[in-house]
Amino acid sequence: MEIHKYETLWFAASLLLIVGFIGTITYGAVGVGIEMVNDDGGTVDPDNLSDHERFGDTGVHQVNDTHYEVNMIAVHPSFIPSEIEIPAGSTVTFYMTASDVTHGFKLVDSNLNTMIIPGQITKITAEFDDPGEYGFVCHEYCGSLHHEMAGNLSVVPEDEWGGVDS
Ligand code: CUA
Repeated sequence: MEIHKYETLWFAASLLLIVGFIGTITYGAVGVGIEMVNDDGGTVDPDNLSDHERFGDTGVHQVNDTHYEVNMIAVHPSFIPSEIEIPAGSTVTFYMTASDVTHGFKLVDSNLNTMIIPGQITKITAEFDDPGEYGFVCHEYCGSLHHEMAGNLSVVPEDEWGGVDS
């Protein structure tokens, strides 16, 4: 049996495409660090957040010299807190939950992007080496004022850092 050379060529080209598609899917799934929201952060009763050790005390908390935690509640149409300030050179772990409906959290100019789900605690950690302003927005439609749901993270130079309030 003789296979025509154009047929061989097309066969090779389509095989190359299939390998390419599998490659992009694999890269998207594991190469860029995308994870589904999982149970790592634990669960919480969305109706009793004020009694919760974390969410009864929202805001920035210092763990040690370079590590901070931010406890945040998403409730339409706000993030609590919506203004966050941390010193440059710190590692920040965000613990987030929602008290009403599913919200989103996307920190502009970073790869921090997650869902915030009632009953789930979303836990994400990031390092902030350089001073700057990072806006964050809700990217899951959550109600009529969804478009106003936003906040700001200020990374201030270490020598201008005033410490946490509480
Ligand atoms: Cu919260 Cu959209």
